[in-house]
Amino acid sequence: MHCQSLPELISEHDSTRAASAGWTLLMRIAVVGMGHVGLVTAVALSAIGHNVIGLDSDEDRIIGLFNAQLPFYEPGLKEEMARQTFAGRLWFCTSPADAYPAAEVVFICVGTPPDENGAANLIAVERAALSIYEHASDGCVVVEKSTVPCGTHQRLSRALGGYSRIYVASNPEFLREGTALMDTLEPSRIVVGTNSESARLALRGVYQPIIDSMEGEPFAYIETDIATAELAKNASNAMLATKISFMNLMARICEAGGADVTKVAEVMGADPRIGPAFLDAGIGFGGFCFPKDVAALAYTAQSLGCDPDLLNEVLAINQDALLTVFERIKTELWHLQGKQVGVLGLAFKPDTDDTRFSPAVELCRLLIEGGATVVGWDPQAGKSAQTELPDLILAGDPYIAAEGSDLLVIATEWPETADLDIDRLAGVIKGRTIVDGRNMLPDWKVSYAETQGFKVFGVGRLCEWN
Ligand SMILES: NC(=O)c1ccc[n+]([C@@H]2O[C@H](COP(=O)([O-])OP(=O)(O)OC[C@H]3O[C@@H](n4cnc5c(N)ncnc54)[C@H](O)[C@@H]3O)[C@@H](O)[C@H]2O)c1
Repeated sequence: MHCQSLPELISEHDSTRAASAGWTLLMRIAVVGMGHVGLVTAVALSAIGHNVIGLDSDEDRIIGLFNAQLPFYEPGLKEEMARQTFAGRLWFCTSPADAYPAAEVVFICVGTPPDENGAANLIAVERAALSIYEHASDGCVVVEKSTVPCGTHQRLSRALGGYSRIYVASNPEFLREGTALMDTLEPSRIVVGTNSESARLALRGVYQPIIDSMEGEPFAYIETDIATAELAKNASNAMLATKISFMNLMARICEAGGADVTKVAEVMGADPRIGPAFLDAGIGFGGFCFPKDVAALAYTAQSLGCDPDLLNEVLAINQDALLTVFERIKTELWHLQGKQVGVLGLAFKPDTDDTRFSPAVELCRLLIEGGATVVGWDPQAGKSAQTELPDLILAGDPYIAAEGSDLLVIATEWPETADLDIDRLAGVIKGRTIVDGRNMLPDWKVSYAETQGFKVFGVGRLCEWN
């Protein structure tokens, strides 16, 4: 194994040599923002051999990391983080002066939450850039990993003092919470947007170990200009959200026309041009990516003079998916006042404790505002949901959530919800009604529940909706 420093390699300006000679480039990398993306990125980059320092302005978060406490739940991350810190490849800090001067590459992974008009709020990105400008060394490559609108790199580069001293690049993140570490170490694609050879080579150096390890696997390393990389991320999330909203529209048509959306999805998914993923009707998409990224893309489209109608409709159908289930619950219970509803699942999806923009939490909010008592269960996200909704009562398991409830809702696709024991449920629940907001219950279980006196409502299925 031959090791060569990045400046040496860049000075040769020979990109193909690095790739073809299989050099391992041990690089000094700073990652700003120890949230879901930043921490996973820092751990993964140290796991492939780089020296990484993770910076966050939240002191409590950094103290927690030094004590091996993750700020969120992510399978496998804690163990890998411990391995890397023990090996001395991963550090954490709160001071830009400790993180930036030695860094060859800085990844910006701060949050880009939505403004009220749907635009991505880039204040944290600008603050990070100004601080990098102050402390980073000449030749440093600053990489946008946060999801930002097409064209942000121009603003970023201005905040970094133009292209004279610091290079700018885009490397959008495609990880999925719940499988984040594997998605980063064994990605389906890495997209790198640059407008300088130095930045292109630096990122090639960062990712060479992954490129090597993915040889023979379905994987694409795509190099492009910066604006294209920025847009590719928004476009990918908008496409996935569109598939979900399309199926939720089909669900409404199925309900009205007497068809079963799960079978429609099965037929559609068998077509390799469509594929089976993201064809699940339900109470809609959520999380810190889809809703805000679709809204941000609609805002960008509008501001560039392009028609955002399709994207706005995707968001409107998503909202309608949640409200349709809420209205069904109200219809079934007649009044919410004085009723108890058990809600299974609070996270926006399984295998995470993230409740940001979670449809399950939004449903709980509507139920509580309507006067119901809500008892929620989630294997990971209970605390986070209760922080958002202090009136939410937490249960330790699905049957405690169901105990004494007038109705039970399945709101997140945790596998445990498909495994519900109907007999045990029948022994504790007050009203025998289940609203399966994620179509989790298999047909045989629905049939059995009905023989036990339950009414089971799915989404877009041949069931008791009508
Ligand atoms: N969460 C996901 O699944 C996911 C996936 C792909 C892309 N993204 C995108 O990645 C970005 C980050 O997402 P996240 O979920 O990790 O966000 P997050 O809000 O959970 O974490 C951001 C972190 O950055 C820190 N921070 C903010 N400003 C800072 C500054 N100036 N200096 C140092 N630290 C600072 C915050 O304290 C926080 O810990 C967003 O743009 C998001 O859209 C997220």
